Amino acid sequence: MEKFKKWSQINGPQGKWLTGNLHTFAQDPLHFLTKLKADYGDVAKFRLGPTQKVYHVSKADLIKEILVTKQSKFIKSKDLKVLKDVVGEGLLTSEKDYHLKQRRLIQPAFKKSHINNYAQEMIDVTTNYIKDWEHGLEYQMSNEMMNITLGIITKTMFSMNFEEGSKVIGEPIETYMKIAVKRMRSILPMPLWLPTKNNKHYKKSIATLKQALTNIIEIRRKTDDKYEDLLGILMRARSEEDGLGMSDQQLMDELMTIFLAGHETTANTLTWTMYLLSNNPHVMNKLNAEIKEIIGDRKVEPHHYTQLTYTQNVFWESLRLFPPAYVIGRQVDEDVEIGDYFFKKGEMILISPYVMHRDPLYFDEPDLFLPERFETGLLKTLPQFAFFPFGGGPRVCIGNHFAVMEAVLILACIYQRYQVTLAPVHHKVKPQPLITLRPKHGVKMIVSKR
Ligand code: HEM
Repeated sequence: MEKFKKWSQINGPQGKWLTGNLHTFAQDPLHFLTKLKADYGDVAKFRLGPTQKVYHVSKADLIKEILVTKQSKFIKSKDLKVLKDVVGEGLLTSEKDYHLKQRRLIQPAFKKSHINNYAQEMIDVTTNYIKDWEHGLEYQMSNEMMNITLGIITKTMFSMNFEEGSKVIGEPIETYMKIAVKRMRSILPMPLWLPTKNNKHYKKSIATLKQALTNIIEIRRKTDDKYEDLLGILMRARSEEDGLGMSDQQLMDELMTIFLAGHETTANTLTWTMYLLSNNPHVMNKLNAEIKEIIGDRKVEPHHYTQLTYTQNVFWESLRLFPPAYVIGRQVDEDVEIGDYFFKKGEMILISPYVMHRDPLYFDEPDLFLPERFETGLLKTLPQFAFFPFGGGPRVCIGNHFAVMEAVLILACIYQRYQVTLAPVHHKVKPQPLITLRPKHGVKMIVSKR
């Protein structure tokens, strides 16, 4: 008997002849993957479309092999090809040596010391935005959070103010994202040369975005001013290998990538956090008490971030329950052995932080919102890939420190000034797994001044 199990020896649900399991997967990927683990265990197989073989891997040590120790045998999943229309060869989509070179070039811009410089801007953008919230009014929090994080990324990246940024970049990004998801989910995305309404919107949103960034880069190339924003740092970055900086095209791809990867994820987790807080008054009281004790009526300042440990744990806990990157995909690029399994070139692997984060093997009462679980050094005792909202290995999220600092400071600014409760008549809030994990139809909340 062969030592390693391959496709024919691995179990999984029967699919349709033509589409495989695409339909059930696309309808509700979270349920599909959770059930796959329950029914077939740590490694299960299914098909997307007539020929694409896919494995769902849900065991921490196997995930580590895929994302870290044997990561060179994999490339990113084909799904991401759609993203290439807009982010080209940016960090999220590029591969191998080119990715490594770009990652080395860009990494310094996300060092903790640099990110600390952005803390004040994060506070300023948030404070300025929420000062206009009216006492007793209802807001669509998903939009509000998207506006704040969009404001922060435009400010920290381009030194642009909120109005400029959201008009020039925010609107076309929204259109693009909606259509991109549909393209990712279909077996045969509509060829872009077909003059359909969606294709036209799609192409127009991409062209608008690219034009906006081209203009920004062009203006910067002409100035001698030394900008300390992300764009300034990226423009001055030089490769240690060949001493070269980035071309305009490379800059554009990386900016677009950071922009796309860097605001919706945090915004969604913040919305989930506020929703979870409103449903768990005990946690909300503790968060309020911490903010009161550490900040009181004074202005929120960058150094408060490290002191707000309960608030940090609240954010970690909502990343556990609703990880925006709910599934991480890889394609096998060279035949590889992972644990007792053999995966063949061309097959796909899906790894789901959502499924892992709710596994009772790793988390007691996994469906409950209990930030306290992070207080007892849980992260030190868990296997590395039981909790990994930011992925891992050489492709770990470059913006992880940025995101956590941003979220904690935003929460501090909001809860210092406002009480936030779920609107009295509310639809059932359900996760909607698009490119990231959003609350379907958003979350409507009422804000009251303290
Ligand atoms: C709560 C917020 C965030 C979450 C949960 C998150 C999650 C992730 C995950 C899981 C990956 C790895 C994907 C993979 O391995 O296939 C990733 C990659 C990435 N993220 Fe984030 N992210 C967040 C915020 C941000 C922010 C704020 C930025 C930038 C300002 C950012 C920029 C990126 C980039 C550029 C990559 C690609 C890295 C590479 O492949 O070298 N992310 N993110």
